[in-house]
Amino acid sequence: MKRIAVLTSGGDAPGMNAAIRAVVRTGLFYDLDVYGVYKGYKGLIENELEQLGVFSVADIIQRGGTFLQTARCLEMKTDEGIKKAVKTLKDYKIEGLVVIGGDGSFRGAQKLSQQGINVIGIPGTIDNDITCTDNAIGFDTAVNTAIDAMNKIRDTSSSHNRVNVVQVMGRHSGYIALYAGIASGAESIIIPEKPTDLEEICKKIIHGRERGKIHNLIVLAEGVGEYRDYIDIIEKKTGVTTRGTNLGYIQRGGAPSAFDRMLASKMGAMAVECLIAGKTNRCMCYQNAKMLDMDIDEALSMPYTIDEDAYRIASMLGI
Ligand code: ADP
Ligand code: F6P
Repeated sequence: MKRIAVLTSGGDAPGMNAAIRAVVRTGLFYDLDVYGVYKGYKGLIENELEQLGVFSVADIIQRGGTFLQTARCLEMKTDEGIKKAVKTLKDYKIEGLVVIGGDGSFRGAQKLSQQGINVIGIPGTIDNDITCTDNAIGFDTAVNTAIDAMNKIRDTSSSHNRVNVVQVMGRHSGYIALYAGIASGAESIIIPEKPTDLEEICKKIIHGRERGKIHNLIVLAEGVGEYRDYIDIIEKKTGVTTRGTNLGYIQRGGAPSAFDRMLASKMGAMAVECLIAGKTNRCMCYQNAKMLDMDIDEALSMPYTIDEDAYRIASMLGI
């Protein structure tokens, strides 16, 4: 193998830059030419590639976002789009591609592999909705960002004796809500994976108030709805002034945590080593504190699960 390329796709996630850096530096360490593809699959289809040197990835390990930029590219879902992407890779004599993104990006990678392209996927999404890995790059940072915001909301919630509903990202996944909820001491966590009993949540608020509680934090995963759909109902049922906040895109930005930098560095380096070893259609997974690679078809066929232990613990701790 002489020449590889790397791209980031789907929603950006803190730590993607650290992963690109690891791919580039590992590639150069093994005397490979490394190309960066701009704007994900869109750049692959539209020939937006550039050779990257050792200094093109200097000073980025600590930065959020992705300097290669990212895109959601509908054309990649068509046969025509795949053909164009394959042609670009062939024109540039690229023998291996590293795709950093979520499960949608992995589906694109899978299709490229079916066309004979050597491809390795690296999970990068704040949603943490790829079952084959305990952590996707960016999830830890997003949870920390959400916790930081919730600490602040708790201050004002206490001062005003309020209920505060905090809406977090995650698309159809409740992972950010669950982890940020537990780690910020929220009373209730509403996620799409589990049924919600709003009556119970309101009863808990009322009992808490009777015991002298002066604030309530409720975390709502976006997959369940908007905080606006909840605050009036909660206020009416509990008689406690209720406010809401949507944390929004701040969860996608910011400097990656130490954990995400380590995860990205290991996954990036090992993805290149997988390509050199002749592997293809594999994705990097972090399971039980160990790094391994798995077939992408197998990874994508694993049923999505929420962390059941965490959910059980949340209901015991949030009182
Ligand atoms: P994520 O990778 O974070 O899950 P998306 O689901 O938006 O984000 O997917 C990112 C991109 O991956 C899409 O914009 C598209 O270019 C590509 N992609 C998604 N699904 C497929 C598919 N079934 N076939 C080919 N490419 C896909
Ligand atoms: O997949 C990451 C994510 O931030 C989801 O949590 C969210 O639902 C979605 O992307 C938002 O996408 P967009 O950037 O297209 O608004």
